[in-house]
Amino acid sequence: MTTIHLAFQVDYRFDVHVTRDVFAPDNQILADVLAPPAGDRPARALIYIDEKVLAAFPHLPRQIHAWFTVHEARGICLAAAPEIVAGGESAKGSFAIVERVGRTCHDLGICRHSYIVIIGGGAVLDAVGFAASLVHRGIRQIRLPTTTLAQGDAGLGVKNAINAFGAKNFLGTFTPPRAIINDSRFLEAQDDRSWRAGVAEAVKVAAIKDAAFMHELVTLAPRIAARDLAALERVVLRSAELHLDHITRAGDPFEQGSSRPLDFGHWSAHRLEVLTAHRLLHGEAVAIGVAIDLLYAVELGRITTAEAELGLGILAGVGFRLWDEILELRDAQGRRLVYAGLEQFREHLGGELTLAMPDGLGTQRDITTFDEAACERALAILKRWKVRSAPAVPA
Ligand SMILES: NC(=O)c1ccc[n+]([C@@H]2O[C@H](COP(=O)([O-])OP(=O)(O)OC[C@H]3O[C@@H](n4cnc5c(N)ncnc54)[C@H](O)[C@@H]3O)[C@@H](O)[C@H]2O)c1
Ligand SMILES: [Zn+2]
Repeated sequence: MTTIHLAFQVDYRFDVHVTRDVFAPDNQILADVLAPPAGDRPARALIYIDEKVLAAFPHLPRQIHAWFTVHEARGICLAAAPEIVAGGESAKGSFAIVERVGRTCHDLGICRHSYIVIIGGGAVLDAVGFAASLVHRGIRQIRLPTTTLAQGDAGLGVKNAINAFGAKNFLGTFTPPRAIINDSRFLEAQDDRSWRAGVAEAVKVAAIKDAAFMHELVTLAPRIAARDLAALERVVLRSAELHLDHITRAGDPFEQGSSRPLDFGHWSAHRLEVLTAHRLLHGEAVAIGVAIDLLYAVELGRITTAEAELGLGILAGVGFRLWDEILELRDAQGRRLVYAGLEQFREHLGGELTLAMPDGLGTQRDITTFDEAACERALAILKRWKVRSAPAVPA
């Protein structure tokens, strides 16, 4: 027998830039990313825009054209007029986006030295990013996340996906972007639901990685509820730092192992999104999922009731509903349908159930078994908690 042993490494580097008004004529950030080395052929860029972003900024395509004209001397050019993509979860609801992006790239002769620039919420970033990762086995992608959740979490990582067969993110790839540009101007245009949605991911990451941030969120919550942009920018920045720190420094960016701390609260959240046919936004489902898991962590003796109350108070304070009637749905054996999320998680991770849990607020230690009776107690508390806190929750 002959065995040829192989080992090689690939070095990934990308920056997250925080700016305001990325397509203002004098804003150089995107040009710095796109500009080819002196003497190389011009870099071509295709742009995809979330339809709700276009609705909020109807002049954006014209602005983009003008911006490329200003910067074309740096060797960058727009390959075609920006394309518009349906926003929200429907963007990742089928393979249609792959065919569409693939066809455009084919017809325009987009090569692997070209760029796809994606401007949108997490769903559009996931869907177009997935398509970009498949064309020629990977076109360079630059993400301009436009929601709180996308700027603080979804737009930052190395994953993309579409939903399939009734399961979230069933088809996807690990593909690091070339750069991420967080433009606060986009945040202002969000409706209240998207504005707050990313705060759920901030509470999630604070619970398992940064207790001080959890306490800071307590003071920021009323300002966020009042739509204070500076407060939201602070939440986005710290959330982004904590997510990126995990992805780049925890030693498992492509999730080869089964530990996924950034999925705290997500076993139920992903199921709730599907069970509600996406009536709940991802962030809204995560708020409920994090609330369930914080109370479950109390049942396990991992955190105190007061620590769980911090998280629930922040979530309710910014306007999340922490109970949804879909949690009452049960199968013929009387088991809540949401628990099917545990099986899907187990399968997704490769057979062994591994769930992130706090171990003291701001520290994380996985669990590999799940006690449904304890979760039932947590759910009973959450249901009552919602009733008690309802008057304080803004509409
Ligand atoms: N790849 C990852 O690592 C990762 C991580 C977390 C979440 N996600 C995914 O991200 C998605 C959720 O992302 P999201 O919370 O951004 O929601 P979303 O993309 O569904 O956007 C919510 C709504 O806001 C609209 N919108 C986007 N930007 C806007 C703006 N600036 N102004 C007005 N409206 C705007 C969208 O069209 C949509 O209708 C989920 O599919 C989730 O699974 C991916
Ligand atoms: Zn999430």
